Parts: sequence; structure tokens; C-alpha cells
Amino acid sequence: MSNIIILNAAARKNGNTTALVKAFTEGAKESGHTVKEFYLQTMTIRGCIACMGCARNADPCTQKDEMSQIYNEFKTCDVVVFSSPVYFFGVAGPLKTCTDRLFAVFSKYGFEECQRKCALLMTSDDPQYEQAVDWYHRFTDNVGWDNIGEILGSGRTKEAHDLGASVE
Ligand SMILES: Cc1cc2nc3c(=O)[nH]c(=O)nc-3n(C[C@H](O)[C@H](O)[C@H](O)COP(=O)(O)O)c2cc1C
Repeated sequence: MSNIIILNAAARKNGNTTALVKAFTEGAKESGHTVKEFYLQTMTIRGCIACMGCARNADPCTQKDEMSQIYNEFKTCDVVVFSSPVYFFGVAGPLKTCTDRLFAVFSKYGFEECQRKCALLMTSDDPQYEQAVDWYHRFTDNVGWDNIGEILGSGRTKEAHDLGASVE
């Protein structure tokens, strides 16, 4: 059984993006997986300050804020799900800030230790996913993660459920 973490950058707690998160979570739990969602909008996660402490002795980061919760869960998770509305063609700020802070785990533990599966849940008003999905591909390719699927579109809860259920 897999440990799944969801990094959810939706601003609206009951909006389109969270509907995908809920459906994915239901599917994953039905298949016996453990799911932990981080609702990034209400967490205190500061931007990376490029101090490079993670390359020296920080464990894994010099900044002590609520990113520590994600660092803790990241250590033992198998799957990382990115979830965000499209904001001005990209991902919402809290997701970008959070992934910048993940730099610390790659720096501290090395890429091999940080291999994970990943998935993307994303909504927008118009089909303007290109830049956000390109960023997701570049990020996950760069760190060597295994992309298990992308659900793009409000209302695609059935697909999100099935993706959650299909996690191995
Ligand atoms: C600040 C802001 C920027 C947005 N930018 C875009 C955009 O560039 N393209 C688009 O199609 N929708 C855009 N939208 C619409 C949202 O992506 C869309 O309504 C999304 O489903 C909202 O997710 P939520 O219901 O989880 O809050 C934007 C919305 C906001 C609030």
C-alpha cells in the first residue's frame, strides 16, 4: 500500500480543484492507500531564501515553519500529488513556494533517495493548462519522478477517482 501526500494549492476550500482532490482521495482510500492532504493556502510556508543551508548542515532546511510537516511526510511517502487551479497561466503561488522549498530535500538527501511517483490535479476556466503542465513536467522530469497521471479540468471527478484508485 502506498503513502500519498497531496499538496493542494486551491484557494477555495470547496471549489473545483478540491473536488478533484476529494475524488482522488476517495479512490485511493478505496484501494487501501493512505492519503494525507496539505491545504497549502492556510499553512505558513515561506519562500526559499537560497541560504544553501540544506547543502550544509540544515535538516533539511534552515527555515522553521509549517513546511516541516511536509518534510516529515515526504520522507516516507511514495506518491506526491500536485493540485492547483491555473492562476495567470501557471500554478497558484502556494504550490510554487512549496516546491521551491522541496529543493532542501533533494539537496540534503540526494535525488536517488527522493524518487517518488507523482500526479497532477488541475482546474481552470478556459483550457489554458499549457504553461502549468509544462512546469509540472519540467519539475518532475528534472528530479526524476515517475508521472502516473494528470487530470485537467473542473468536473473531472470520475477520472480523478479512477486515478486515485489506480495508484500501485
Ligand atoms: C487569480 C486568478 C487567476 C486565474 N487565472 C486563470 C487563467 O490564467 N486561465 C484560466 O483559464 N483560468 C484562470 N482562473 C480561473 C481558475 O483557474 C478556475 O476558476 C479554477 O477552477 C478555480 O479553482 P477553485 O475552484 O479550486 O478555486 C484564475 C482565477 C483566479 C482567481
